[in-house]
Amino acid sequence: MNIQNVMILGNGGREHALAFFFARRSETKQVFVFPGNDGMEITPKVVTSAKFAKFNCLKKISEEVLEFSLFCEQHKVDFIIVGSELPLSQAFVDRFVKNSKIPLLGPSQAAAMLETSKDFSKNFMNEFSIPTAKYISFKKEELLALSFDQIENLASLFSNRPAVVKASGLCAGKGVIVPANKIEFHAAIKEFCTKNEEGFDASQIILEECLTGPEVSLFYLCQGENFIEIGSACDYKRWGDQNTGPNTGGMGAYLPPKNILSDENKKFISTKVIAPLLAGMMKKGTPYNGILFVGAMITEDGPKVIEFNCRFGDPETQCLIPLMPDNFAEALYLAASGRLLEWILKYGNSIKLADKKSVHVVMTHAHYAGANSEIEYSKNLKILMPEIFLDLGNKSDQELFIFSCALKKNGNDFFTNGGRIIGVTALANSNFKARTLAYQAAREIYFEGRHMRSDIANNIGEDL
Ligand code: AMP
Ligand code: GLY
Repeated sequence: MNIQNVMILGNGGREHALAFFFARRSETKQVFVFPGNDGMEITPKVVTSAKFAKFNCLKKISEEVLEFSLFCEQHKVDFIIVGSELPLSQAFVDRFVKNSKIPLLGPSQAAAMLETSKDFSKNFMNEFSIPTAKYISFKKEELLALSFDQIENLASLFSNRPAVVKASGLCAGKGVIVPANKIEFHAAIKEFCTKNEEGFDASQIILEECLTGPEVSLFYLCQGENFIEIGSACDYKRWGDQNTGPNTGGMGAYLPPKNILSDENKKFISTKVIAPLLAGMMKKGTPYNGILFVGAMITEDGPKVIEFNCRFGDPETQCLIPLMPDNFAEALYLAASGRLLEWILKYGNSIKLADKKSVHVVMTHAHYAGANSEIEYSKNLKILMPEIFLDLGNKSDQELFIFSCALKKNGNDFFTNGGRIIGVTALANSNFKARTLAYQAAREIYFEGRHMRSDIANNIGEDL
């Protein structure tokens, strides 16, 4: 299968990792990332001697679907991958497929409601008996009309742990509060009922049973009722060591998460979550096509779904991609073309990842996610990135990859351009070696206010 030109929608480390996967394939001619970030143009060349295709970073093409599809046709794009959730919620996929015959990997707006509406997702899981936390869904007005005592009672709806409070719509990662006590529960309800910010949709609010157990992210490539397992990873959502500080977009990840996810539980999730989900979506007339990300908690009563996302995880993808076999490209292309079954008949029901341990460490600004400061983090801070990476990555049993989340170029220098700036993935035969290498490299990257967690992939068992 000759996949020469690929278009990826998104701009973070996840999209850089996907772009990197295609860029190092020999048959690739061009990888377009829209809008991308400046660091994507250069970091792959710095960290590996692999042969790259010409790497393009589009910043100016219009998001208008007609213009976008014209660009893709003119540049002979073989297929498109939607990396981030934004185009999914904006019906970009629906509009694109009406306008173009180029295969596109990503669910329709109706199918993406599994991520964009927690109310839809919970009702759907209930209808199709998919294991998840118990819940009740309220309109904001209904909660606003309740008295203090009634709200107090709601806290203990499911157990003696206060219920988890979730805004149903997209909230840029700020839509979930796990209260430690009734006071925090009350404050969470008040916050969600009164907050009126763009990009924060709490018109419907879910109260959910508070589950306990380790969490894991699992990824599937789906098309209609067919799916393949892509891989699973553990990510670190909190800003600080020992899971302290605010929730973030993700501070690091490792895989395989063997200390959390048994083969038996993996099988359980395939048969009791993914298969009924895909059958349910078909039944509703909104077949699911694209990447499905299951955030699961492994409770004493077995795995339960915490959330669905309709895209790859960030930073899990940066951990996964360096282990991907070449036929992953074919799987993505065939799924986008409505032909995933062909891949399954040829290769089976799962991607065979390289047998290595992978550790990814994200570097952010110290004030990222509101940590340590009321003021917004600074941008435009110069990055110092020594040549030493070339040496670090050259050991035969260890490999190093750098993925750019938010870098801006000015002259020959790079500057920070966001909260999560850059990430390092290391592969090795043991978790200990991978972690050591990832931190060795990460410490060599410097910018003012640099922050990273120091406990990514710690205490997971040295040989896991
Ligand atoms: P979400 O955005 O739904 O993934 O939630 C963010 C985080 O909140 C999850 O990664 C969990 O750590 C936590 N969380 C969400 N739902 C629950 C729940 N029902 N019980 C306990 N923790 C939860
Ligand atoms: N790492 C979690 C996410 O991508 O949403």
